[in-house]
Amino acid sequence: MRGRVRCAVFPVAGLGTRFLPATKTVPKEMLPVVDRPLIQYAVDEAIDAGCDTLVFVTNRYKHAVADYFDKAYELEQKLERAGKSELLAMIRDVLPRHVRAVFVTQAEALGLGHAVLCARPVVGEQPFAVLLPDDLIWNRGKGATRQLVELAERESASVIAVQDVPIEQTRSYGIVATRGGGTSSEIGAIVEKPKPEDAPSTLAVVGRYVLSPRIFELLAHTRPGAGGEIQLTDGIAALLAEDRVLAHRFEGRRFDCGSRIGLIEATLRYALEDPGLREAAKALMREALAEG
Ligand code: G1P
Repeated sequence: MRGRVRCAVFPVAGLGTRFLPATKTVPKEMLPVVDRPLIQYAVDEAIDAGCDTLVFVTNRYKHAVADYFDKAYELEQKLERAGKSELLAMIRDVLPRHVRAVFVTQAEALGLGHAVLCARPVVGEQPFAVLLPDDLIWNRGKGATRQLVELAERESASVIAVQDVPIEQTRSYGIVATRGGGTSSEIGAIVEKPKPEDAPSTLAVVGRYVLSPRIFELLAHTRPGAGGEIQLTDGIAALLAEDRVLAHRFEGRRFDCGSRIGLIEATLRYALEDPGLREAAKALMREALAEG
């Protein structure tokens, strides 16, 4: 696998049923953590990793995601007239000028593997990143995607982010078996959502991938797997037979914002990291616990 990683793919066509009724009209990727929607955190992470083409795989109900990255003429005019330059800069910086956003529709919800395959006409023959915005990853140092991209470019290999999970949680994740331990190691096998008794390890795939474009051809021939969906995990399993794929235990803390408690945890943690909110948030939390 050769070439620089410039494209990042964001599969955002899911239904977000865990957050109904909010997600009846608001896509789950637009749910905020403090003051920014989840998708913005993932986008910033991809841009920080050097990506300049962002491919959003959406469905026809997700106009809000496209609207968010579009220019907001009226709002910009109002802020400009009111002299609110900081706010103006904030909404203009949603995407830096050198970055382009491309929207691709996934007409049918056929699975994550199929969603990634929908990005093929934009990505072409280059290695690319995939970010699942539900997985919010916080790190003081390099972002998770940058960690993966650097390793992928250095090793000329596909790389997947992993972390250890409790054995009873294997059925919520793709699980990998690696050859050898350490921070980065070669994947020998990958299975989508195995029962604990069938899991090859407790090393779970987190929503960050850097993949060889070869995956597209493999996904095009992947049959529906777990849950009757075309799974990215099964495409990666096919890739393993031909190519090196590394698992990387990334540095950072991951919040599972696909679950309600994960979104709450992320909100609390990000509030504590925000200098303007820290003290007030702490006081609130103490008070809430005391009343508990
Ligand atoms: C997807 C992948 C799974 C991965 C997970 C990470 O599952 O299919 O392999 O471990 O994301 O968040 P989902 O959570 O979309 O069901």
